Amino acid sequence: MSVLVCVTGRNNDKLMAKLSDAIPDVKIEQWPYCEDLSSVQFVLAWNAPDNLWQQLPNLKVVQSYGAGVDGIALDKLKPCVSVARIVDQKLSVDMAEYVLSHVLANKLRHREYAANQSEGYWKPRRAMGGNEVGILGLGELGKVTAEVLVRHGFSVRGWSRTQKDLPKVACYAGENQLETFLSEIDYLVCLLPLTQQTKGMLNAKLFSLLPANCVVINVARGQHLVEEDLLAALDNNKLGGAVLDVFSTEPLPENHPFWSHSKVTVTPHVAAVTNMDTVIAQIAANVNACLDDTPLENQVNLSKGY
Ligand code: NAP
Ligand code: GLV
Repeated sequence: MSVLVCVTGRNNDKLMAKLSDAIPDVKIEQWPYCEDLSSVQFVLAWNAPDNLWQQLPNLKVVQSYGAGVDGIALDKLKPCVSVARIVDQKLSVDMAEYVLSHVLANKLRHREYAANQSEGYWKPRRAMGGNEVGILGLGELGKVTAEVLVRHGFSVRGWSRTQKDLPKVACYAGENQLETFLSEIDYLVCLLPLTQQTKGMLNAKLFSLLPANCVVINVARGQHLVEEDLLAALDNNKLGGAVLDVFSTEPLPENHPFWSHSKVTVTPHVAAVTNMDTVIAQIAANVNACLDDTPLENQVNLSKGY
C-alpha cells in the first residue's frame, strides 16, 4: 500500500516531511512521481487532475486537503472509493474571524475612509446601523461563524438543508424558508458546499430578495456566484457591497472588473487556509483506517456531495 500526495499549486516539502513523521512505516510519494500506480490506496488531494483517478486501480480512500471536496471529481471515482475531508476547529475559527472582520470593516466604513484618505478628504460619518447577519450553510464553519458573531453582539440567522437548533441563532431550512431568511439581512455570508443544488445560488433572483444595502460575503466557492448578476446588482444600487474570497477562476484574472470595483473587496482565497500542524493527525488517522479497514474520520456523504 502506498500514499500519493496530489496537492497542486504549492510547495509540499514540509507537508511530505510531517506526513512521513506521522506514518513512518507507509510509503509516501508525491504526484506526478509514482513508482507503481497499482499500489496506491490512499490519495491526499487538492485540485488533483480529473484523469488521476482512473489511473489508480486499487484506490480506496481520497482525503481532501481542505473542507471542500468540490475539487475532487466525485463522479469519476469507483463506487468502492470513500472520501474524507478536513474538519478542524482552527479552520472554523479562522473562517469566523475573517467573516467578523469584514462585517465590522463594512459596518465601520473602513473602505470609505481608505478611499477618502487617498484624496486627503475628511468626512466623519456614523457607523452603519444594520446588525443582522444571515449565514447560508450552518455546517462546521457556519456554526462557529454564527457563534462568534453572536458573541460580538450581532443578530444572527442561518439557513441549511435540514433544520438546526443553535443558541441565539434564528434557524431556517429548505427552499420554502429561503425568502423569509433573506429578508431584513444587512450582511449575507455564503458558507455552503458547492453542489449541483447550490451552484449559481448567489444570483439576480436571490439578490432581489435582499434589502438594498445588504453586503454579500462569499467565502464558499466562486461558482456559487453569478458574477455578472452581482456586478449588475451593485451598479444598480440593489446591494451595498461585496466581499469576495473565492472566484470561478483563481487566481482572479488581472483584467477582471472585481479588482477595481469601488464596492468590492477582493481577497485571494485566504479566509480559512488548512493548517498543516492541526490537521496532520486526522490525515494520518485516515491512512491507518484505510490500512485497517476501519471507519474514516470526517467521511463525506457521497450521495449529498458534501
Ligand atoms: P459542511 O460542514 O458540510 O456544512 C455545509 C452546510 O451547508 C450544512 O449546514 C448543510 O446543511 C448546508 N447545505 C448544503 N447543501 C444545502 C442546500 N442545498 N440547501 C441548504 N443548505 C445546504 O461544510 P463546512 O465545513 O462548513 O464548509 C463549507 C464550505 O466552505 C466548503 O465546502 C468550502 O467550499 C468552503 N470553504 C472555504 C474556505 C475559504 O478559505 N474560503 C475554507 C474552507 C472551506 P445540512 O447541515 O442540513 O446538511
Ligand atoms: C478551502 O477552500 C477549503 O475548502 O478548505
